[in-house]
Amino acid sequence: MQIFKSQDRLAEVIEINPKLLPVINRFNISLGIGNQTIADICKQKEIDKEFFLAIINTYHNPEFFQELDPKKFSPLELVRYLHKTHEYYLNYTIPKLDELLDNLIESCEGSCGNIQMIKTFYNKYKNELKVHIDDEEKRVFPYIETLVGRKEKPVEFSIHKFEEEHTNVEEKINDLKNLIIRHIEPTYKNNTANEFLFELYRFEKDIRDHARIEDNLLVPLVENIEKQIKRT
Ligand SMILES: [Fe+2]
Ligand SMILES: [Fe+2]
Repeated sequence: MQIFKSQDRLAEVIEINPKLLPVINRFNISLGIGNQTIADICKQKEIDKEFFLAIINTYHNPEFFQELDPKKFSPLELVRYLHKTHEYYLNYTIPKLDELLDNLIESCEGSCGNIQMIKTFYNKYKNELKVHIDDEEKRVFPYIETLVGRKEKPVEFSIHKFEEEHTNVEEKINDLKNLIIRHIEPTYKNNTANEFLFELYRFEKDIRDHARIEDNLLVPLVENIEKQIKRT
């Protein structure tokens, strides 16, 4: 398993895994980074180097979490990062998928019933995703901010409740992909369908890693604070 370190040059990290680019952008880092190391850039941008490495390594290696100590990270920094990821899904990924699906529907000739069925499934999924994100933004993140800021536990909610209710939004993307791969009628343009499917694969990977960060890093981190508050 390859683990990126602070002395690695960020340009080389991108060369190894270009899919990390949107993740890196969420830290306000854009292209044109020269030969700077991760340590240099984090210092310049006032980013917690350990947190940055934890996030990029998590996206790069699915098993990386086992090596992390959640007590080392600021929950507010993590919430800020998760919020940026939500913004990316709502403001970039969803409009992009909308556009690619519209292109696919437009490219269809003859009987297009199956593509309409895919659109219905996609719209349903999109609404569920928005509800999921909205709940985290309006209920979970404010709870964490209150917990950290006031050093007291709001009674009506706990991170355990979030853990129990946290649904797997990524699984439905897999259903959508399967619907397209197995059941779409060949009445559309191949390249247009492929573009939509590729974007779904990219999104699925991103949101799976996002959910892993919420379950495996955010939950233990907040549980730890809840325990400390109970003790005082
Ligand atoms: Fe989320
Ligand atoms: Fe989530």
